[in-house]
Amino acid sequence: DWSMAEFRATKIAEIRAQVGEGRVICGLSGGVDSAVAAVLIHEAIGDQLTCVFVDHGLMRLGEAEQVVSLFRGHYNIPLVHVDASETFLGGLAGVSDPEAKRKFIGKAFIDLFEGEAKKIGGADFLAQGTLYPDVIESVSFTGGPSVTIKSHHNVGGLPERMNMQLVEPLRELFKDEVRALGRELGLPEVFVGRHPFPGPGLAIRIPGAVTREKCDILRKADAVYLDEIRKAGLYDAIWQAFAVLLPVKTVGVMGDGRTYDHVCALRAVTSTDGMTADVYPFESAFLSAVATRIVNEVQGINRVVYDYTSKPPGTIEWE
Ligand code: XMP
Repeated sequence: DWSMAEFRATKIAEIRAQVGEGRVICGLSGGVDSAVAAVLIHEAIGDQLTCVFVDHGLMRLGEAEQVVSLFRGHYNIPLVHVDASETFLGGLAGVSDPEAKRKFIGKAFIDLFEGEAKKIGGADFLAQGTLYPDVIESVSFTGGPSVTIKSHHNVGGLPERMNMQLVEPLRELFKDEVRALGRELGLPEVFVGRHPFPGPGLAIRIPGAVTREKCDILRKADAVYLDEIRKAGLYDAIWQAFAVLLPVKTVGVMGDGRTYDHVCALRAVTSTDGMTADVYPFESAFLSAVATRIVNEVQGINRVVYDYTSKPPGTIEWE
């Protein structure tokens, strides 16, 4: 892609000019945006960049391993991998309010990140994979009614606290352009094409209190759902698809036995920027097949429902 090749060269020059001899730290979330930002910055300034992956234990199946192998294996970019699942799951114990979950996760993330930054002797710059829609959304939030729908998880507040400047090379881009840039930089297709995943991870897909056991159940159901979506060739036609584990148990029957297990909700939407979304209209046979597989293969779930709400009035995530 000619325009992306040019964008890449321009940004590399800009990053070098901005950063000079300074040190840059970049938090990886596991998502496409922060990964593309990190690879681009690494190309510009090499080992002046340190990447930190704070792994909250709320990732999807195999996701943390993918991030580590992409950076260490594929690109040979040094990566600090902080396994903080105890901290996050411990702190989330008994917390069921959605905003309380988001605030705890955001704060714990910043504390851990700051600790890692200090260990490497600090940094002059903080790199973030901020996109154009993120910029617009925060502008419209200040201009619009003063209602917070959801506290988005990012590293806001950290730059001032640590006296760092921001490096945000993707600020002019939309999601599809970030994906094109990722391909230009040689990111594997499975990574580049991945559906967005929220910073607070599975914690906001488990309404009510989060436990390690619930996370494990949800990871399995989500993996089955996405496996079926990929096999049906629908993955790229969908903006985001995921399973939600409800804090409701219902009665079922399996073989000659009674079951009493959790309900799992499936969500799939189309969107261009996440600000509005339409429900993905699966064939009912597809949904039946997914429901059957989840109930058969995932212990702890005995009922599956499909979420038919567009955004607005629903949001994409359930919390
Ligand atoms: P909602 O649920 O507000 O989500 O309709 C819109 C898009 O944003 C993602 N999302 C987040 N992304 N940190 C993120 O990085 C967050 O805290 C967060 N909350 C929601 C969501 O997955 C969807 O793509």
